[in-house]
Amino acid sequence: MAFPINRPRRLRRTETLRRMIRETRLAPDDLIQPFFVCPGRGVKRPINSMPGVAQMSVDQVVRAARETHSAGVPAVILFGIPQHKDPHGTQAWNDQGEVQRAIREIKEQVPGLAVITDVCLCEYTDHGHCGVVLSNDVDNDATLEPLSREALSHARAGADMVAPSDMMDGRVGAIRRTLDENGFIHLPIMAYSAKFASAFYGPFREAAESAPQFGDRRSYQMDPPNGDEAMREIALDLAEGADIVMVKPALPYLDLIYRAKHEFHVPLAAYNVSGEYSMLRAAGLNGWLDEERAVMEVLTSIKRAGADMILSYFATEVANRLRG
Ligand code: PBG
Repeated sequence: MAFPINRPRRLRRTETLRRMIRETRLAPDDLIQPFFVCPGRGVKRPINSMPGVAQMSVDQVVRAARETHSAGVPAVILFGIPQHKDPHGTQAWNDQGEVQRAIREIKEQVPGLAVITDVCLCEYTDHGHCGVVLSNDVDNDATLEPLSREALSHARAGADMVAPSDMMDGRVGAIRRTLDENGFIHLPIMAYSAKFASAFYGPFREAAESAPQFGDRRSYQMDPPNGDEAMREIALDLAEGADIVMVKPALPYLDLIYRAKHEFHVPLAAYNVSGEYSMLRAAGLNGWLDEERAVMEVLTSIKRAGADMILSYFATEVANRLRG
């Protein structure tokens, strides 16, 4: 039946009516807050390209984690910036490393907060690639062992979940086996399954000091035009034992979030990455758009597309606003 019998505007007339028919509601429970952990004490070093985000030493991360927890956000994800980088990224599995210490401190001081760790070598290698470089190539199979060691080291420090972001083939299975052999059969894996070689990671590489020193990541991260391949990557990670799969970035890939939710019916995360953060922040700081509304609209659209969890640098402040 058409106009004038049908008038969709009838249900938009007041905020109360709009509340009643609202289909998607963003909640603090949907969010995951990323942190960058750096060496030192009392360090809070702002990241130029991400106003409002800083590298923080363990003590500062614990403070921030407390705020995240009281805002009602259930989890954080940690990235480490080590004191020393080397060709093999050996600091990634140093039990006294920044991430490992941060896990222990957060679990002790903010026990209700889930701690997820990013498992990747790019922050730890001097060449900045996500794996072991052999004759100018990121060697897939040689990278599986160091990644597994890193994941195990995070598990031993008390992480609640590990999240491999390197995009090597077979890494979810390798990490699962290592965790199981060492008694961590209950530790879930959140796999960065459909992770694209994206320009939107630019600000993160300043934050994590992880820009590749030669070449780029296109031989291991996905080619942005490929949607079917993203579904294949997700299927492979699930077959290897992933408990949660991820699409990353979020905003330019909403179609794939939607497809993934409908094809797999498994817990799905989406990463609202650094570039997505920076462009909204920059436009907001310039007065070019209403940042609070724009951020809410973006995060809600990611949820509407099908994401069950959203990793976002806005997580804590948005959760605070949601709680009023
Ligand atoms: C590490 C990693 C990256 C991000 C998360 N894990 C960067 C990259 O692949 O270069 C990006 C996160 C962001 O941009 O917010 N492999």
